[in-house]
Formats: sequence, C-alpha cells, structure tokens
Amino acid sequence: MAADRIEALIARMTLEEKAGQLGVFADMVRPFAPDVNPDANVRNAGQVLEQVRAGRVGTLFNGVGAAAGREIQRVAVEESRLGIPVLLAADVIHGMRTVFPIPLGEAASFEPALAERSARATAIEATAAGLHWTFAPAVDIARDQRWGRGAESSGEDVTLGCAFAAARVRGFQGDDLRAHDALLATPKHFAAYGAVAAGLEYAQVDLSPQTLHDVHLAPFRAALAAGARTLMTAFNDINGVPASANRWLLTDLLRGQWAFDGVVVSDYTADMELIAHGYAADERDATAKAFLAGLDLSMQSGFYGAHLPGLVESGQVPMAVLDASVRRLLRLKEAIGLFDDPYRSLDPAREADTAHLPAHDALARDAARRSIVLLKNEGALLPLRRGGQKIALIGPFAQDRDNLEGCWTLFGDKTRYVTLEAGVRAALEAAALLEVVPGCALEAPLDGGIEAAVAAARRADVAVLALGEPQRYSGEAQSRLEIVLPAAQQALAEAVAATGAPLVVLLRNGRALALHGAVRDAAAIAVTWYLGTQTGHAVADVLFGAYSPSARLPVSFPQHSGQQPFFYNRPRSGRPELPGMAEFKSRWREISDAPLYPFGHGLGYARFAYAAPRLNTPQLAWDGTLVVTTRVANTGAVAGEEVVQLYVHDRVASRVRPVRELKAFAKIALAPGEARDVVFHIDRGHLAFSGADGAYRAEPGVFDLWVAPSSATGEPVDFELLPA
Ligand code: BGC
Repeated sequence: MAADRIEALIARMTLEEKAGQLGVFADMVRPFAPDVNPDANVRNAGQVLEQVRAGRVGTLFNGVGAAAGREIQRVAVEESRLGIPVLLAADVIHGMRTVFPIPLGEAASFEPALAERSARATAIEATAAGLHWTFAPAVDIARDQRWGRGAESSGEDVTLGCAFAAARVRGFQGDDLRAHDALLATPKHFAAYGAVAAGLEYAQVDLSPQTLHDVHLAPFRAALAAGARTLMTAFNDINGVPASANRWLLTDLLRGQWAFDGVVVSDYTADMELIAHGYAADERDATAKAFLAGLDLSMQSGFYGAHLPGLVESGQVPMAVLDASVRRLLRLKEAIGLFDDPYRSLDPAREADTAHLPAHDALARDAARRSIVLLKNEGALLPLRRGGQKIALIGPFAQDRDNLEGCWTLFGDKTRYVTLEAGVRAALEAAALLEVVPGCALEAPLDGGIEAAVAAARRADVAVLALGEPQRYSGEAQSRLEIVLPAAQQALAEAVAATGAPLVVLLRNGRALALHGAVRDAAAIAVTWYLGTQTGHAVADVLFGAYSPSARLPVSFPQHSGQQPFFYNRPRSGRPELPGMAEFKSRWREISDAPLYPFGHGLGYARFAYAAPRLNTPQLAWDGTLVVTTRVANTGAVAGEEVVQLYVHDRVASRVRPVRELKAFAKIALAPGEARDVVFHIDRGHLAFSGADGAYRAEPGVFDLWVAPSSATGEPVDFELLPA
C-alpha cells in the first residue's frame, strides 16, 4: 500500500520534480536561530516558499517553529503539483530549548543510558518546535585533540563511541518513528572526518583500510544497527577520494556489504567542494560524480536541481538510479508518517506546552553533574563546605553566560541558563561566604584584574578558578595549534597560586587540554566541558559534595600539545620506553610519551578497591564465552559510583595490536563498605580486528585482560583463545 503510493508518485514525477526532491536547503521561511539576523531570513522566505510550491525542494533545514512550519507544509501539500510534504531538519546536537552537556562531556559519564534519555528529551522538544529530523549524532572518533569537532563526538575510543552512537540514535528516534515526538537521527560524518591530518579541519585523510574499518567505521555500524535511517557524508577525502563522491564507501560498502537502504545526505555543499578538491571539473561533473557514487541528497549547493535532469537526459545518469534515490527519500517520509499526516510535529499548542519542561531541567542537571570529571583532589580539598569556609570564585567563566552551552547549540533558551556564580550562591549557606572576581577576560588581561583576584584569594580559605577555552574554540573549523589555556588565564592562575591559597581549578573545555604550571599543579582539578542549561547547579553539586563525581575521561589528557595525536589504544612500538630505559626509545626529547591523565581516569569522593579478575576458564573456546568476575568494593566513607573498565591486549597477531583496548564497561553505585561482583561476558567477537590481509576475525593465542579504573592502571590476567 505504502509502496504503491510511492511508486505511483514516482511514475507521475517530472525529472525536475525528482531532482528537486533530492535538494536540501536552508529554511529561510522560519527564523534560523531566532536571534540571528532576522532581516536576512525574511528577505529569502518568499524564494524558498516558491521553491516548495514548484516542487523543487525535498527538505528544509535549520529553521524552527510549528506555526510557520505548518505554512511551509501547507504550501507543499496544497499548492505544489504533487503535494509531497517536505522534511524539516536541523542541527539539534545536544539539546533544543534545554541544553545538555556537549556530546564529549556526556560521553564522560560512561552512561549510554543517560545519553539516550537526554536525546529523547531533545527529540521531544525539537519535534514540538516543528522538526522531523536532526543532523546528529556525530559519531566521529576523535584521536587528535587539536581537531575542534571532537566536542561533538564521544572521544577517542571505539567501544565507548559505539555505545553512545547507538544510544543517541535510540533516544532521538524513540520506539515508533511515526510518533509525533520521533526525531530522525543522522550519524555523521561518513567517514573518517576525525582522522584529518594534524587535526586540521577539512584536511586530507590518509589511513590504512584496517584503521578505517576497525576505528572510524565501527560507530556508524553501531548507529545503523540501532535503527538510523540516514547518514551524512564527510567533507574530507579518504585516501584521495572525497567521501561525498566515494563510490566504494557509499555504494560498495554501505549499500552492498552493509545492506543500508536509507538515505545518504551530503554535508553542507560537499558536492560543490568536489571542484575545490580537484576531483570534479565543474558543477555538472561534480553532480555526476557525487550522485553516481551514491549520494542521495545534496545540501545547499543546488547542483542536483540544476544538473541532474540534464545528466539523465544525456544518459550519463540512468533514470533508474535517480528513481532509486527518490524512492529512498519518499520511503523515509512515509516511514515517519508524513504522507498520512503532513502536519505531524507541527502543533503550535504542543510547542507552547513544551517550551519549558521542568523535568528536562532536572535531567539536564543530572546529566551535567554526571559529566564532570574530577582529575585530581589532593588532600581531599573537595568537596568544599557549604558554610564556615570563605570562597573566592575567580576567573572569566565565573559569571559568564555566553560560554555555557558549547558548540552547535542553535536554539537554547538562554533565559534559563544557570551561571557558575548563580549555582555556587544557591548552594552556600550565606552570601557573605562568596567573593567573585573575573580576574581577566577570556583572552586578555583586565585592568587591575590580577590584583583584585590576588586580594580576594588572600581573604579566602580556598580559591576556585573558573578557567578554560571560550566555547568558539571547539566545533566546526576550530582546529587549534596548541591545546592550552589562553595566556591571560594562565597568568591569572599563576598569580593566584602564588598567594598560597588552596586552589581548585574548574576547567571549561571542548577537547582534552595540555595543562601547565599552576593549573596543572592545583590541588584539585575538575573538567566541566560545556554543561548546558544547568551548568551552575551541576558544578555546585560536585563542588559541595551533593554528588560524588562519577565521570571518566573519554579523551586522554596529554602532557603537552606536541604529543597529538595522542590516544591510549595505540599500536605497540618496537621500542617502548621502559622504566629506567629512555635512550633510543619511543619518547620525546623532553618528556615521555605518556599522558598526564589517561583515558578512563576520574576520581570521586568514595574510594574503590578491585580484587583480581576471576575467569571461568583460562582457555576460551572459539565459540565460547569468557566470564570475567571482579569484586569491587567501596572502601571510602561516602556512597559513590565507579566505572569498571575491561581492557584486552592481543599478545601476538598478524598486525601490531594496540597496547590495550576497552572492550566493556559498567557503572555501578556502591554504598560505603559495600562490595559487588561485576561480571563481563567476552567472546571472540570482542577480540576481532582487521588482520594483515584485511579479513575481520579474531586470531587464536594469548590475551592480557585488565579490569581496572582507567586505561593505565590494574594488573593483567591472561587467557588463551583456542582455535576453532
Ligand atoms: C556541518 C554539519 C551540519 C551541516 C548543516 C555543516 O557545516 O559540518 O555537521 O550538519 O553543516 O548545518
């Protein structure tokens, strides 16, 4: 029935209407991020509606609003020849009106179920605001912290990345795609966008097929297995062929091997950029190369509308290929119920009711505090006391309202944002206990700023320094040369440290940073990323011990910027540095190539002790299951949560294997004195990799296995994988 309806439509469509469906254009009818440049939007609304009326557009993106959305849809359904409804998409990455932590921060929770809940809440708000489709989650693996878009990802690890990719897809889409609050998900950017050389945005990707497969493609598979119906291609080339015109990637692998039958959308003007890449001679050539490679939808260039009809007429593009792409898009519209109810997710009453849901504030606060990583806490300086302790809150982020949300937040309700100062004040017993001094601007000194900060620190029992990167340092096109704090902030930290006041550093950041001097040496350091709407309350919960921090690093913090790309699961060197043996070893002249804080590291206010892991057998049969049981005890004085991490290492293989790889993790809550067995099940699927010949399989032999609180701790046990 549905299929008949789609085939009947395709049979009636002109070439121009078919090509038009495949176009994705900026939604200038509705305000793109309401406070930004409304004049420009109004000026172009008429043209966009005219395109809709003429059946020359299938999808509009980055506008918002139910009432105006209804008007767009009315024009599509009532005034265009075939009445095909448009899809309404947007970049809703980590929250809509309620802003949740940046995806990298949320990944630090090591709680995919939390990401699923925040994605669900985001979908509820986004669909109420007149959207069907989000260009998220970004599932790029970010192994180089200079790259700015790691903030949108889940960090450097594949297992963690896959778990969060799948959870976010499930959360956005919900159980029933036809429900009015289901939001289509789009894993992006396909593929290997995070592997750009030197972390330089839009640069080349030159990569072994094995690493491409095992590292960069894995989260896409996880996202598709979780039900994603669309993918967005990446800007970069892969081994010389742009991803957006890469027939091997988009057709042989995706449609062939993976049997994906959903829709592939280009990134913004990625088809046009084939010309700049020098991969296509002109617009028509770029259109042919992208489309024939398997790119269904073209975003913003207008190339498909302009050139596909001519390419079909000349025989260069077979009509059947065009029909196949149109069919995929119409099926997507059908799958979310648009043909039966073109006005789904366009209900102004629901939009008004959903404008502020207190339950989402509560979730945002919980997600935010669960994302804070406590790196260091010497002398148990934290938690601070709510009374009887004078606090100097110093730094450019103390009162800041403009750097709470992080990159890619187009529609956040700024009136609800809780600053750090507001959160700390709300937690304190008396206002007189807090003195707040900016000390410097984000990137520059302030007149008298350091003097005021030093004086405040002298008057206080503890100085809390709110430092970090301005939020525009991460996100698209924000590659950094050095992943350090701005010099003015470092100078502020040095001056405050020189007072001798005990120092707590609260970092705001969209990537791993290299910490130096007084910041590195502070007694306590917490990574707070960009936490969104509830920032102040969430940080105060951790600062004053209402919540014991439970997040762990999803990216390694190096000692120095020059170590990038740095990731914990690197292949073994033939000359690793060993204790006491540094000459002619794999190290830098100046420092060892170790992290300052490893992947998986993070502290809380409880203490946990691990017993040695017990295995059900020292020999894992080819089709068997290794049951790994580890007793973990809370030996501290307060309740807390621990992220129990299982790593493996393959001792001898046909390719050099990583020193360790995360294969499983579990977050458990333990009361003081409580102990629990944490059980993991490992089979040969966990041990598989792309071998020297490219075949994906496990290789029999001996493996080391750790159950540990980070990627750099624990004592291994070993087991053997027996041959088939
Ligand atoms: C970004 C994508 C985004 C698209 C649409 C591009 O510049 O790379 O991640 O979805 O714009 O806004």
